[in-house]
Amino acid sequence: MKQTIIGVIGGSGLYDMEGLSDLREVAVSTPFGKPSDVFVVGELQDVQLVFLPRHGRGHRLMPSEVPYRANIHGMKQLGVERIISVSAVGSMQEHIAPGHIVVPDQFFDRTQGRRVSSFFGEGIVGHVQFADPVCRDLSRTLAEAGRKAGATVHEGGTYLCIEGPNFSTRAESKIYRSWGVDIIGMTNIPEARLAREAEICYGTIALATDYDCWHEGHDDVSVDAVVAMVRQNVAMARLIIRHAAEILATSHDRACACKEALRYAIMNDPAVI
Ligand code: ADE
Repeated sequence: MKQTIIGVIGGSGLYDMEGLSDLREVAVSTPFGKPSDVFVVGELQDVQLVFLPRHGRGHRLMPSEVPYRANIHGMKQLGVERIISVSAVGSMQEHIAPGHIVVPDQFFDRTQGRRVSSFFGEGIVGHVQFADPVCRDLSRTLAEAGRKAGATVHEGGTYLCIEGPNFSTRAESKIYRSWGVDIIGMTNIPEARLAREAEICYGTIALATDYDCWHEGHDDVSVDAVVAMVRQNVAMARLIIRHAAEILATSHDRACACKEALRYAIMNDPAVI
């Protein structure tokens, strides 16, 4: 069986992956500039793993500054077929407590249009399907891996992506809650869109770090609170990735719609261009 290649995009607090063997650093150049950092490539549980810290080592890049196209292009160049995104998020629901894991199945885009989130343009016109923005199979695997790691896992949920860098106002937070969203973060929507266009499966392990600012019984979100909760849970995030790699190494490479996203997506008339 062909060895699968998994990409991991580490969010706040996850700047490296422990336990990789045959480790090497790979600098990739792309038509969209430099990725967030060098890629770290190694073996984990018989799969090839490609790790990239989303904000760069030392956390140098704000959510709006992350070079999303270069990151996904780099992953594609390195043969990545599935991307596991690890992200800190705020909880918008009482039952999702800080420390819980959510594997979202929907995204809602509240970024302000400042991020280029498509490889199309400049003469190439394409519209990929995005009704189901994450890979169902990969997400199922991540939820299973989370339970195996002993986490409280919420399977499914809507991730609202804001532009940041500031956290939300209380009025915004309450309105978002009235929309029925489950978690709030600042990074996943451009990655999910670009991964789909690159025909790479995408799934998220979201660690709830706070209750944003809507919960009267809890402090408002702060960087301190986010960092403390990520520190407490980084070992668990690594364990979930390890279990996911184990499952993906032995599961058959099933046909998946993500891998054929471009099949009916291109609008250009080949007779004209
Ligand atoms: N990341 C972690 N907590 C967050 C919150 N409350 N809002 C946006 N991004 C977050």
